[in-house]
Amino acid sequence: MKILVTGGLGFIGSNFIRHMSEEAGAFEIVVIDALTYGSNESNLKELEYEFVKGDICDYELMSKHVKNTDAIVNFAAETHVDRSISSPYSFIESNVIGTYTILEAMRNVNSDVKLVHVSTDEVYGDIEEGSFKDDDGLKPSSPYSASKASADMFVLAYVRTYGLNAAITRCTNNYGNYQSPEKLIPKTIIRAKLDMKVPIYGTGKNVRDWIYVRDHCDAIRLVLDGGEKGEIYNIASGAERDNLAVVNEISEIMGKTDLIAFVEDRPGHDIRYSLDASKIERLGFQPKYSFKEGLKETVDWYLENEWWWKPLADEKILHPTPWKLEW
Ligand SMILES: NC(=O)c1ccc[n+]([C@@H]2O[C@H](COP(=O)([O-])OP(=O)(O)OC[C@H]3O[C@@H](n4cnc5c(N)ncnc54)[C@H](O)[C@@H]3O)[C@@H](O)[C@H]2O)c1
Repeated sequence: MKILVTGGLGFIGSNFIRHMSEEAGAFEIVVIDALTYGSNESNLKELEYEFVKGDICDYELMSKHVKNTDAIVNFAAETHVDRSISSPYSFIESNVIGTYTILEAMRNVNSDVKLVHVSTDEVYGDIEEGSFKDDDGLKPSSPYSASKASADMFVLAYVRTYGLNAAITRCTNNYGNYQSPEKLIPKTIIRAKLDMKVPIYGTGKNVRDWIYVRDHCDAIRLVLDGGEKGEIYNIASGAERDNLAVVNEISEIMGKTDLIAFVEDRPGHDIRYSLDASKIERLGFQPKYSFKEGLKETVDWYLENEWWWKPLADEKILHPTPWKLEW
């Protein structure tokens, strides 16, 4: 089976490829990635795959590759909420136009191909109590989540109008190996190792449901195999924590104290995300890692792989309020 993985050099895409590569010989993988700031070629060091440097907004390129594949998993996106606040336009390009371009290529050159479009829980907006179901309405808060919500709408419209075979996954916050040092968990581990304070937005009471990236990859694999056309699959582990609790759990694993420094809150900062993941559970999904286990593996990986994060660290972890930066 040939799989086209867009955004395969980013955090989740590269973990997904590692996951698929564990089944030796079963898959031929082609990666298209524009090598933007979220990517890192060393994420897939030592693995065998075909790499195409390119932009998913490039129709000719996408048509050529969509024509010759059995399935597409679309991870390619601009992903950092803070960056979407300082410069939203690239989010519209990669996340909306990019997804539209993939759909157009499918419609015109290979309407049998299956697309798994990787989206996010952030499209629903925040919820103070209860959990969003897969068919709840969308209420995005940031330019990032608005661009992802828009892309989801195009996917569903192309299924309905042109009969394309596409399913959408919406997952909660991921953590694990190869995640950019600008995200909360890697940033905390790295700053703790360097005996630096960890900047926490506002009161630190914003709640996220944290899923270990390997569990997310398992769920995407289930949707690739058995997900139905036009369906949306929420993916969650149920490990809800506020940011303070996350930083405190990392401090405990690393034997550090007094790490937190509160900083001015991010504009539009969502209070709590929570998903009802019963549909993906009916496809057979069960997270294998508790938050404690996944976090311990993640801390160990960052401590053992300084070669990976060190070149990225100066630019990405040392500024306490990144949404104010002009990137
Ligand atoms: N990280 C999370 O917690 C999380 C949670 C739920 C959903 N998601 C979704 O999962 C997907 C992957 O997220 P991630 O955290 O791995 O992001 P990432 O930023 O680490 O990786 C994104 C990758 O996409 C590539 N890319 C960006 N624009 C492109 C373009 N126009 N053409 C080709 N490649 C392009 C980048 O170079 C990068 O390699 C995204 O769609 C994101 O919305 C992420």
